[in-house]
Amino acid sequence: MLNFVAEMQAQLILFISGGGSNARQIIRYFKGNERVKVVGVLSSKANLEMEQFCSQRQLPFHNLQGKDFTTYLQISQELNANWVVLAGFLKKVPAELISAFPERMINIHPALLPNYGGAGMYGQHVHLAVSAAKEAFSGISIHLVNEEFDKGKLLFQHAVAIMPNDNAAEIEQKVRALEIKHFAPDLDAYITGVTK
Ligand code: GAR
Repeated sequence: MLNFVAEMQAQLILFISGGGSNARQIIRYFKGNERVKVVGVLSSKANLEMEQFCSQRQLPFHNLQGKDFTTYLQISQELNANWVVLAGFLKKVPAELISAFPERMINIHPALLPNYGGAGMYGQHVHLAVSAAKEAFSGISIHLVNEEFDKGKLLFQHAVAIMPNDNAAEIEQKVRALEIKHFAPDLDAYITGVTK
């Protein structure tokens, strides 16, 4: 019975490198959801706040600082994950790990891809570049992960207007608001659409 439920259910493992605001929102959103369940969080660095957040919810949290990707794969499999969500994960995922979750690894990028993506374009760097280019819009892109950085199939994008005097921090605030609003419901829509 348990295996049957696990097969029907999308079991998400979240990979993070940053503070984890997106991961916390995803965990809150899917709490009690029968179709989609978060089974754990793997972090590429120590994150006490996230660790406590997970332990309060009896959710496995692993600090994998210094570990290689075989450990990520091994723990993901131990936790029966069948989807991987990169929720602010800044390491480049190798092909072997991507191919363990074909079409089932999703990333969020804090800009409107294909612009401002690729190596070195993450977090603050993205918002500084958008600000320097005096763009009228920025936003978020949610996409499948393939072997090329930020080039997998786009699933969703959401845009926000930038005022001429917005600095990088203000742009980041606007983009983060989009992430918190849209990432979890977009994951829900896509994943339940694929697994129905
Ligand atoms: C988010 O803004 C996410 O879009 C970005 O890192 C931040 C993580 O914040 N991801 C990338 O730049 C990926 N290239 P969080 O740890 O608070 O969720």
